Amino acid sequence: MAIRIDGKSISTQVKDECREKVAKEGLDITLAVIQVGNDPASSVYVGNKKKACEYIGISSLAYELPEDTSEAELLELVEKLNRDESVNGILVQLPLPSHIDEDRVIQTISPKKDVDGFHPQSVGALSIGQPGFVSCTPAGIIQLLKRSGVEMDGKECVIVGRSNIVGKPMAMLMLRENATVTICHSHTANLKEVTKRADILIVAIGKPKFITSDYVKEGAVVIDVGIHRNENNKLCGDVDFDDVEPVASAITPVPGGVGPMTIAMLMNNCVEAKNAGGRKE
Ligand code: GUN
Repeated sequence: MAIRIDGKSISTQVKDECREKVAKEGLDITLAVIQVGNDPASSVYVGNKKKACEYIGISSLAYELPEDTSEAELLELVEKLNRDESVNGILVQLPLPSHIDEDRVIQTISPKKDVDGFHPQSVGALSIGQPGFVSCTPAGIIQLLKRSGVEMDGKECVIVGRSNIVGKPMAMLMLRENATVTICHSHTANLKEVTKRADILIVAIGKPKFITSDYVKEGAVVIDVGIHRNENNKLCGDVDFDDVEPVASAITPVPGGVGPMTIAMLMNNCVEAKNAGGRKE
């Protein structure tokens, strides 16, 4: 039976550390959160981010813009927030409506306020080991592993999924921890053979219950980034938990695994934004 890696309790640890630092050092931190349109999932995420800010003692400014906001108007707001010295972090909730170029918006956010870690400068800094903000979900996975006592140095880490937000930065972070890293994707030949090599298997492919026990080596640590609702409205991940748990040595559940870590690391990035304009780990 695998150990369940408890993302809820580890995320609370991270948030409590942030809260303590904010209180002890009397940090006055402001995060600006921009949502364009009212996609229901985005509204839930944005609401959770605001709640986390309240818990930590970070002020949040909410910009709820209509769906038909033009790209120029959004860029103007981002530039205004870049100039505003009282704002430490800027987060533009994705996805944006299709008439707005997401890349252009991300590139307009000052790298000093890029608490999502999506700006090309942040991504580039991560890949060459320089200080900068790190994308919250992969940074959260490193914390889950470290705080659960999972050794990464010298281990085979296989990442399934190559997105800019999870797969690619995850690979860079795992390299920094001295793991041997393989990234798989939809064109990978013999996927099962590759995933079965993993001591640490990180799955971010966006397909419900795709990874079954025949993809997993006995004793592997399995991290599930996916979140889906099944036909009974129950949440599940990219990993078939019930099937994989008996072969894994440790596994993250869905919900209560990776999910809560993303917001905890966002809070951590906001604290770092106040401190140094970018974090290294
Ligand atoms: N949409 C889904 N996840 C995220 C995230 O981590 N940051 C932003 N800005 N948008 C998202």
